[in-house]
Amino acid sequence: MFQIKTKVIKNIEVAPKCYKIGLFCPRLAKKVVPGQFVMLRVNSGPEVLLRRPFSIHAVSGKNIEILYEAVGKATEVLSRKKAGEYLDAIGPLGNGFSVLGSRLSVLVAGGMGIAPLFFLAQALAKRKSKILPNRQAGQNPNSLVLIGARTKRQILCEKEFRNLGYEVKIATDDGSKGFKGKVTGLLNNLLSTMNYQPSTIYACGPKLMLKEITRISKKYNIPAQISLEEHMACGIGACLGCVVKTQSAKRKAQNAFEYKRVCKDGPVFNANKIIWQ
Ligand SMILES: Cc1cc2nc3c(=O)[nH]c(=O)nc-3n(C[C@H](O)[C@H](O)[C@H](O)COP(=O)(O)OP(=O)(O)OC[C@H]3O[C@@H](n4cnc5c(N)ncnc54)[C@H](O)[C@@H]3O)c2cc1C
Ligand code: FES
Repeated sequence: MFQIKTKVIKNIEVAPKCYKIGLFCPRLAKKVVPGQFVMLRVNSGPEVLLRRPFSIHAVSGKNIEILYEAVGKATEVLSRKKAGEYLDAIGPLGNGFSVLGSRLSVLVAGGMGIAPLFFLAQALAKRKSKILPNRQAGQNPNSLVLIGARTKRQILCEKEFRNLGYEVKIATDDGSKGFKGKVTGLLNNLLSTMNYQPSTIYACGPKLMLKEITRISKKYNIPAQISLEEHMACGIGACLGCVVKTQSAKRKAQNAFEYKRVCKDGPVFNANKIIWQ
């Protein structure tokens, strides 16, 4: 982990209120793994005092990309950054996903939960091409991405996942594209009709969605790695502001629990370890 000045190389609106910012930062780009995040200081004045956490969306050479939605003050300030400006970042932070590329994986994204899953998809595709070198370039037939959004206007990255060789299925709350309903409903439908089981579910999205993913992963006995989002003050494990209740790994009693810091011990957890409140 280090603190670094990064240079904005682009900041473009890719969907209503959703932006992709590209940052030149060779050190971070070299070190970061999928699922990790950075704490960004969006300005140097008192307007926004605390740093904000953002997942790494993609790495391309010496640059990283962050996909974000303007939901409040910090993200609104961020959306006004121009190419050539500098941003102070601390990272890479957190643990990241385990990239298991040998069998079918299902990536499930709810809303902005898509952000870290694209970097993961890049890494899974790369790993698969090492394990299965005879596949044609760009093909990744054993992996599926499920994207959930409120309406079709909010669907992000569909084309980018397809370009990586993934099969993509969509769920929208209002039925304007794909399955009508929650992305977890789509997952449940697919698992109940699929004649093979994925080896891993990777998911990121709102808490209720991840709780449902946990239930589904237990029902079908498929391990799930989920990336949690909590409000964060320090982002480096010092303030205990982001703890979640998990099953204790140390004590054997069935209801023994321990608190884990999302920023330091996560943000990625095995779904079956989380004790949902
Ligand atoms: C590990 C991690 C990775 C993240 N990655 C991304 C990302 O890649 N792209 C992205 O758009 N956002 C991401 N977020 C959420 C992002 O940090 C918040 O949207 C941002 O801090 C909001 O700041 P703000 O000042 O604009 O809004 P605020 O005024 O602080 O908040 C606006 C609204 O967003 C809610 N909110 C703020 N922070 C969080 C949070 N951490 N979890 C859940 N709800 C929150 C608030 O409750 C409020 O309703 C991530 C959060 C975490 C913890
Ligand atoms: S945000 Fe301070 S311990 Fe996690």
